[in-house]
Formats: sequence, C-alpha cells, structure tokens
Amino acid sequence: MKINNILFLTCIGFFVILIHSCNSTKETSNSMAVLTSEKVEDDEVSKKVKELLSKMTLEEKIGQMNQYTGFFDPTGPSPKDGNNKEKYEHIESGQVGSMLNVRGAKEVRAMQEIAVEKSRLGIPLIFAFDVIHGFKTISPIPLAEAASWDLEAIEKSARIAAIEASAAGLNWTFAPMVDLYRDARWGRVMEGAGEDTYLGSKVAVARVEGFQGDDLSANNTIAACAKHFAAYGFAEAGKDYNTTDIGLSTLYNVVLPPFKACSDAGVATFMNSFNELNGIPATGDAFLQRDLLKKEWGFEGFVVSDWGSIGEMIAHGHAADGKHASELAANAGSDMDMESHLYVKHLKELVESNKVSMKHIDDAAGRILKIKFDLGLFDDPYRYCDEAREKELILNKEHADAALDMAKKSIVLLKNEKNLLPLAKNGKKIALIGPLAEDKTSPLGNWRLAGDDNTAISVVEGMKKYNDSFTYSKGVKFVEEKTMFHLHVPYNKDDKTGIKEAVNLAKTSDVVIMVLGEHGMQSGEGRSRAQIDIPGVQQELLEAVYEVNKNIVLVLMNGRPLALPWAAENIPAILEVWHLGSQSGNAIAEVLYGDYNPSGKLPMTFPRNVGQVPIYYNYKNTGRPGPKPEVFWQHYSDMTNDPLYPFGFGLSYTTFKYSNLSVTKNGGNNVSVSVNVKNTGKVAGEEVVQLYIRDQVASVTRPVKELKGFEKIRLASGASKTVQFTLTDKELGFYNNQRKYIVEPGKFDVMVGGNSVDLLKDEFEL
Ligand code: NOJ
Repeated sequence: MKINNILFLTCIGFFVILIHSCNSTKETSNSMAVLTSEKVEDDEVSKKVKELLSKMTLEEKIGQMNQYTGFFDPTGPSPKDGNNKEKYEHIESGQVGSMLNVRGAKEVRAMQEIAVEKSRLGIPLIFAFDVIHGFKTISPIPLAEAASWDLEAIEKSARIAAIEASAAGLNWTFAPMVDLYRDARWGRVMEGAGEDTYLGSKVAVARVEGFQGDDLSANNTIAACAKHFAAYGFAEAGKDYNTTDIGLSTLYNVVLPPFKACSDAGVATFMNSFNELNGIPATGDAFLQRDLLKKEWGFEGFVVSDWGSIGEMIAHGHAADGKHASELAANAGSDMDMESHLYVKHLKELVESNKVSMKHIDDAAGRILKIKFDLGLFDDPYRYCDEAREKELILNKEHADAALDMAKKSIVLLKNEKNLLPLAKNGKKIALIGPLAEDKTSPLGNWRLAGDDNTAISVVEGMKKYNDSFTYSKGVKFVEEKTMFHLHVPYNKDDKTGIKEAVNLAKTSDVVIMVLGEHGMQSGEGRSRAQIDIPGVQQELLEAVYEVNKNIVLVLMNGRPLALPWAAENIPAILEVWHLGSQSGNAIAEVLYGDYNPSGKLPMTFPRNVGQVPIYYNYKNTGRPGPKPEVFWQHYSDMTNDPLYPFGFGLSYTTFKYSNLSVTKNGGNNVSVSVNVKNTGKVAGEEVVQLYIRDQVASVTRPVKELKGFEKIRLASGASKTVQFTLTDKELGFYNNQRKYIVEPGKFDVMVGGNSVDLLKDEFEL
C-alpha cells in the first residue's frame, strides 16, 4: 500500500540505534536539555538553576542526585547513631537531594532543617512517598478507578491524595504508574489503568493533573512521577521484575503512549524500571532516558531510578560492579539514585577519570534543582510543613465523600440473572458469608502505605446502615504471616472448619451474599500469582453454599482479573468490587441495595483460565483466524479463545440500546461518528459509550479493534442521546517499524457499543 501523509512526530530512526550502541563514556547529543535547550535557557527558573550550579562543588551536585529512604523519628533516638550516622552526615554535607518514606509535617520539617540550616548551600530536600491511591483517605486501587472511566473523578481522587500528602510535608509522589500490561498474573496490575493504551493515556493525564494541579508551587500540589519507564508491565510470564522483550511496534504503539502523554502533560518526574528491555536494563538505557524522553519528547523534569535499580544492573549481568553501574546509569540519563547508595560513592571518581562528563552531572543536578524551584522549595522550604493544616485536612469529611463517590463508580456488575440485584431493603432473610466481608484492612488494597490498618468500612458495617437483620458467618479464614518487612498471605488451603456453619446459615436464608477474593496483600509489587482463581479454600466454600442455596450474590474483592469459570456459569449475580479503599463497605452496600446503579466497565480482560493469559481485546487477527471446524487455526484444543468477560464490559440495573450508527467523512483525515443510545430499562443509569476502529489493511498489521474514544453518559429511564465522536490523524495512525507515525489510506472499520464485543459496525475509506 502506498504510504501518504507521513507525520514525522518521531525523528530518531537509525540515528538513535547508532547512539544506543555507542560507548557509554560518550555523551549523547541531547545531554543538556535543561541548560542548553533554548526554550528553557531563557526562563527565570533556568537562570536560577544555572546560578546555583555555578556555586556548587562537584560533590554537592552529585549530592542532589542521591536519594535515601527515611531513617529517623524526630521524637526518637538520635539520627547521629548507628546506621543512620552516614545518612545524617550526608544531609549535613549537602550530599543528599531527596528523601523518601519520611512523612508528617513535623518529621519532614525536622529533616528539612538539617539540609537547609546545616548544609553549606542550604538546598532543600524533596520529600517523596508512594501516594498511589490516596494518602490517609484511601481511594480505590488504580485499576478499580480506571473501571469508572470517569476522568473527572479520577483527577479529583489524585487531587485529594495530593492535598493530604502535601499537608503531611510531602511534595513528590511516585505515581501514576502508567505501565501497560496484559497478564493478570502480574501482581502490579492493581496499580495501573489496565490493558488499553488509549484509556491508560487518558487516565495517566488525569492523575498527573490531579497531583500537580495548575501550580506546582502551591502548598497543596505535589510533583507526579510517570513510572516505570519502560515496559515493566510486560514482564515475561507475569512474574514481577522479569525480563521484557518486545518489538518496536508494541513498544511504540502500546507501551510508550501513556508515558508520552504524561510528558506532554508536564509531569515533573519519571521513574525508570527494574526490568531489562531487549537486553538492556532500563536504568542503564540511554535510548529510553536520554534520546527518547529528554531529547525527542523534550521532557524537562528528572528521572529517578527505581529502588536500588542502579545496583541491580550487576545482577542483570550488565554492570561489573557498583562503579560500573553508576557510570552506565549516569551516562544513560538516570538523574537520581534511589537507595543504591552508588552515585554518592562513585560519581566523583568517574567524573575525575572522564568516564562520566561534567555536562551530564550538570544536566542531572540542574533538572533536580529545577523541580525544587518549581515546587517553591527555595522560597520556603517548610511550605509543606504546617501541622495545623495537616490536622485540618487529613481524613476530612469532604475527602471521605469523594472516596465514596469514586468507590461506587469503580464497581462493575458482571452478572445479574433474574434481577437478583438490587436487594429489597426489607423483608428478605439475608446471609452474609466470607472472610472479606468483615475485613477492614484488605479493602484498602496494596500500596496504601500511609493508610492505617483496620480503617476501611467493611461490608458488614456498610450493610448494617441499611438493615442489621442479616446474619454473618466468616466461612473460611485468611492466613497472615508477618515477615521482616511485609505482610505475607499464604493461601489457606487447609482450614475448612468454618464451612459447615456457613452452609447451615445459607440453608435458612432467602439470599446469600458471599464476599470472596484476594486479601489486600495478594496483589501488588512482588505478588504475582501463577493461579488466578479465587484463592485457597474459598472456592470450596462457594460451592458448598451453592449446594444448599442458589440465590447467591458473589461480591468479588481482588486486585487483578480472576479466572472464575465455575462462578460465572453457576452464580446468578456477580459484582466486581476490587479493593475499594476507605469507603469500601458503604459503596458496596449502596450498590447491593440499589441506591447506586453500577456503571463501571472492565479496564482489563477477565480470562476463563490462566492458560489464556496474556489475553487482551486488541489482539492481531493472524493469518489463521477462526473459529474453523478443523485443526489448523490459532486456537487451543481444550479451551475457547473468548475471554470470560471482555474489556469494556459491565452491566447496569437498567439496559441500553444502541442504534443509528452513522459515519461522515469531513474531508482530510477527519471523520465524524455518531450513535444513538437509549435507556430502555426502568431506572436511570450511566453508560460508557465506547468507540473502536480497525485499520483493515496496513503496512504494519493493526489490531482487530482499538479503543479510540469513549464518553460516559447518564440517561433517565426512557431517555436517549446522540453521542458524537471525531476521528483525526491522532486516532487513525500508528508508528511503523521505522518509528514514524503514519496514517495510511484505505478502509477502516468503526465499531461503537457498550463493551469491546457487542458493537454496531460500519466502515469508511480514507
Ligand atoms: C519500588 C517500586 O517498584 C516503585 O514503584 C516504588 O515507587 C519504589 N519501590 C519506592 O517505594
């Protein structure tokens, strides 16, 4: 096919490959983005950065590139003792640029005072923390929030997290995680926005804008961090930290766009990643960090390594020792060393022996100082340390209300036979069963570091607000083990002692609500699973209860898609509630009793069986698509190709009818699409109207469908609305294997509907 309308949105090609394979001691040509790029050079902050750099010694510049984790409590033992001694002295001597895991207005102030009052130049520290889904008021896990497809609510959730975190002295969060992934075994799927690049990019930007607001120097906004750059979510076999090996097409069309969107939205920082990508650990990858991010995309903030990832290049087999690792990372554009303690040890000598150039050091330190200026830390290093503000803002009522709203919007109704839901508010004998129903910690999910145990509203508590005549039985227990640093939750495969009591209760009830799934610590970092079923003896509990009472509402709490073919086949009503945060039980009860009509849609495909993973909606057709009544096509011989629940799927207590799909070419590559959506049920409801396209024939094959637009609408019973979309170059093109963004002429399918499978279809030709 003839290629026309080639858009040079990327311009690196073979030049980049050349640079990539260069000796690491050589500078790549983009090295001075902060200090030499014309745009930046002229502005006020750049001048201040330059001036400050001119006063700094090499050690002080390297100090800015060093980040330590917290080490003392201002009310506790002296920081000058034991293991803390070196870190303390390093802050005093200007050899630390940032701290992580120190929080609290008082605690942050105490540490900031050391930097500001004792170090030679008094350069303030930046205080970082993993504010992933709320600070003290915990909102739903990010995967759940993405299920709302409500960008305004997601932005607000990040805004509130920033308000609380900044009130506790913090000014930098390691979020959003914008990794794309397709493998539900990976524990960190809970931390992102799901499998789709388009939705993922929109959610990423909403989160960045929520954290950073309009003015980074305001005392209630914090710097965001797009992580993990790049391709961490494509860990082989879903095993955290594993190798990633993906081609250019997937890298450019699937993985990179959410990062690019964050860079375009002005995200202050990036974090690189633990994984190697095509043989090069991301932390040491100059192509990713210098050439693509800083030069081509024009990113003006700084890149922090992931925890210890500079040192991990030794285990990767890429660096010989700590010194070599520092050389590789600094030359590749990793500006700040998180907890490897290697830059502070080796960079000086590396500069003195010309292995790392002074230009690279100035660039890195300059970028870090720029963000400190942007945050207003030089005007007032204690601007985030106001204990009165901390008291007033953290866990306030407005934040709880917003967390409740977000939690309700995140719930996805997967099945509702015979309208078992919503429950009548009175007159039914209800049994509530399952270990997660009274759990006040699991609903907080993983990555809620500042969130206190036992603070979520449980399902038991939420339901009691409606009616306390139900009876509760735990059924089975989770087993929790405290290891040195973390809570470990091995599967309870043995203890079935509570099943009998639960079965007896179910026998005498009209409806059984079963709250099952994953403990809050069964997903998250380092928590990949080879099986993605309902863990442990909970499946046995479910089947035993089903034997005596079939009117079951299964409330699933989990941090990843689960494979539950038996439940999907047999259980009449299934509600996916993920880990919903502080207001979990209230949100679930409102949905169970019909005061909120669920509107969430899956941001990630649910497989029938772990053997189908990786499974995703935007797959390629291959040369042998099916189904065919024979052997030689792409399929399994023991399992269908279809997912259990597809991407974009979610029911409501009402129904929606789609009609009148119309496609109009407006000239150029501009196409209007409209569709009519009618609420055909008895109650008001919200629907996420989704638009997909397929480029039928392309020089690089395109997926069978790709999300390119969505709108969440609210319709009263009987009401209808015409929803409009516009397709332009931005939606119609793709990156070819020369890394060029192109739009090719030819036929495109347009598909619109309420999920990625049930779609009206038309086509147009460019
Ligand atoms: C390691 C994780 O990969 C990263 O996402 C996190 O921000 C850091 N640890 C700091 O806690």
